[in-house]
Amino acid sequence: MPVAIEGIFEKYQRRPDQLIPILQDVQKEFGYIAPESVRHISRYLRISENQIFGVSSFYAQFRFTTPGRHSIKVCLGTACHVRGGATLLEMLERELGIRCGETTPDKRFDLERVACLGCCALSPVVQIDADIYSRMTVNKLSELLKQYE
Ligand code: FES
Repeated sequence: MPVAIEGIFEKYQRRPDQLIPILQDVQKEFGYIAPESVRHISRYLRISENQIFGVSSFYAQFRFTTPGRHSIKVCLGTACHVRGGATLLEMLERELGIRCGETTPDKRFDLERVACLGCCALSPVVQIDADIYSRMTVNKLSELLKQYE
């Protein structure tokens, strides 16, 4: 078992109700929850892998596949929604060929929606990795994607 996982387990008691904080820590450590991690957690907490997937499916925060090289977050908070955030998200889903919450098959992009990025006056806003892009349009966004390989 990887040392990092052991370190996480040491922080928690061996009880099924510790599943969510353990999943959170594993995702923080590795960026996602790999099949081996699920296996280790299953053994440690003595619950089945199916139970782990079942419980975690209620939480949008958990990812079980390797993240893409770039993360795109489309803001759909009220201000951004009113100013066309949903249109930007639809365009990205079409252009990248994935749905919100998925990763492109070439692992280039992850696509997510967020509630508010905290700069509503500049809406609609899209975040790619650490960069925030304001007053986005479908055309600007399409051009922007080319900068991210
Ligand atoms: S609603 Fe999009 S930044 Fe606040």
